[in-house]
Amino acid sequence: SRPVLIDCDPGVDDAIALLLALASPELDVRLITTVAGNVPGDTTADNARRVLTLAGREDVPVHAGCTQPLLGPVWRGKYSGASGLGGTLLPEGRAPLAGGHAVDALTAALERAIAEDAPVELCVTGPMTNVALVLARDPSLVRGIRRIVAMGGAFAQGGNRTPTAEFNILADPHAAQIVLHSGAPIVLAPIDVTFQALATPERVHDLRGRAGRVTAVAAELIAFYDRNDPARYGAVGGPLHDPCVIAFLLRPELFEAREANVEIELNPGLSYGQTVGDFWRTTDRPVNATVLWKLDAAGFFDLLWERLARF
Ligand code: BDR
Ligand code: CA
Repeated sequence: SRPVLIDCDPGVDDAIALLLALASPELDVRLITTVAGNVPGDTTADNARRVLTLAGREDVPVHAGCTQPLLGPVWRGKYSGASGLGGTLLPEGRAPLAGGHAVDALTAALERAIAEDAPVELCVTGPMTNVALVLARDPSLVRGIRRIVAMGGAFAQGGNRTPTAEFNILADPHAAQIVLHSGAPIVLAPIDVTFQALATPERVHDLRGRAGRVTAVAAELIAFYDRNDPARYGAVGGPLHDPCVIAFLLRPELFEAREANVEIELNPGLSYGQTVGDFWRTTDRPVNATVLWKLDAAGFFDLLWERLARF
């Protein structure tokens, strides 16, 4: 199975992404690192441990990482509740946090990948602070990365946290810009595609009806997450942003993509944190990202629910 590292800020949709990865035999989840995002850093780390206990996978180490962005204001998520997991739906994590900072743990994992000549896939479902620090401290570590698959950005539609910016990028735009300029192959799942992964009530009902010990609580989490959204987005159902990252690893054929140069607007103002994609090659700036654009939603939910039912 393929070695995978996951940097996340759980977050309901991060939690579902973690469960999808852990349920999938194609992937060898070696390391989970957490970053402040949806909720503060101590809470995202605590939540990742809870998800591992739910999954019965306390063997996977969780290292806590950065608690604030490199620069600029702190933003928090809106849709996962104050606890980040819709209240106290998940039991306490049984395994302790692993010692050592996430940036050091990611560095060690990439050094190992280089030494073994087995580059890893790095999944990022939160602000990119940890990953940016790893690559800023030692840019040569990019050799240990087969590709970065990240949830972030908003292109053809407006943002979900400001009129122009998507949350993960907004929460640390400088970090995102560092990562986009790192030379690592990057696949971005912006809200343009992740809003197609809508967990409608019918789909959640389907999940509830399935076997397995995590389906009921996963359905609870997703239903909580959904409560916040319909009025706001004119669509019924919570968008499962972060699981798109893992689904892309498992079934890339579910997605259509476009290549582009992507830069982040770092100037303060209305467009702070906006992802600027040059899809029509209006500049000479090199392509640095594959941007996921379209999703086969039926295929996505077949995959996701089938995997969640495996626990
Ligand atoms: C992203 O922001 C967070 O709220 C979600 O977990 C997801 O990673 C969506 O904009
Ligand atoms: Ca997230």
